[in-house]
Amino acid sequence: MNHHSTAPEPQRTAVITGAASPRGIGRATARRYALQGWAVALLDLDGDGASAAAAEIAEETGVSALGVPVDVTDKDSVVAAAEAVRSSGLPPVGALANIAGLASPVPFLEVDLKLWQRVMDVNLTGTFLVTQAFLPDMLEHGYGRVVNMSSVSAQQGGGVFSKTPYSAAKAGILGLTRSLAREVAEHGITVNAISPGVVDTDIRAGATDEENEARLSAAVPMRRQGSAEEIGALVVWLSGIDAGYITGGTHNINGGAYIA
Ligand SMILES: NC(=O)c1ccc[n+]([C@@H]2O[C@H](COP(=O)([O-])OP(=O)(O)OC[C@H]3O[C@@H](n4cnc5c(N)ncnc54)[C@H](O)[C@@H]3O)[C@@H](O)[C@H]2O)c1
Repeated sequence: MNHHSTAPEPQRTAVITGAASPRGIGRATARRYALQGWAVALLDLDGDGASAAAAEIAEETGVSALGVPVDVTDKDSVVAAAEAVRSSGLPPVGALANIAGLASPVPFLEVDLKLWQRVMDVNLTGTFLVTQAFLPDMLEHGYGRVVNMSSVSAQQGGGVFSKTPYSAAKAGILGLTRSLAREVAEHGITVNAISPGVVDTDIRAGATDEENEARLSAAVPMRRQGSAEEIGALVVWLSGIDAGYITGGTHNINGGAYIA
């Protein structure tokens, strides 16, 4: 098997969850995959949004792109989405980017069990369910890259929009990533986490204002927020042939906000 190559990547499909949000990381990541020649399957709770994003990406890049509705917290829905990807005629799944997420700004004493479970389910259980659904495709075809979305909130504690349930779920993703990386390494499949700092998307909609946004940027040594494109570029690189010896890692992308 080729462990490194300067040739174009063979035709494979990248599955991206949380890919409908118009200014979101998932959608920018899907576009980045497509620009590198990957076919893409965009999965989101917002199925119409995912299909619209897929159509735009296909038109811009010429790759095959599919939008699929999914609730990552619901096993039946995840299994159905995986079946939809398999029967779509897209090339074999070679990469999975678990990007669907949900943040919560609620202070600890006000977090009820329902909110706690929802934030855990979308971020952590969703990553478990979707990875379990697509790992067999990677094992079957002998190539696999899983990239999970953590957050600087897992490492240094939450901030304005991301308090305890979010930090706990994103820290859980690091444990899942490390353990699964060890388990599947012998099959040549890599499992990595990326840990962005503050990224300019709509995830904080309603939970912050202009002054807060300015404060968020000022607290970053680079004095700006990251862009969804920058995050997507890292996800796609970690999915390539050249990243084949990198596994179990937490890859910080935060403008210096957390340096460990
Ligand atoms: N924006 C940031 O500052 C930042 C920083 C670190 C990590 N992250 C993480 O990056 C990821 C993407 O964040 P974003 O900023 O693009 O957020 P976003 O809110 O713009 O996008 C999140 C997407 O996830 C989808 N989603 C939510 N629940 C779902 C479910 N149950 N099933 C399927 N899809 C679901 C939403 O429909 C949406 O399209 C999240 O995991 C987030 O926690 C974001």
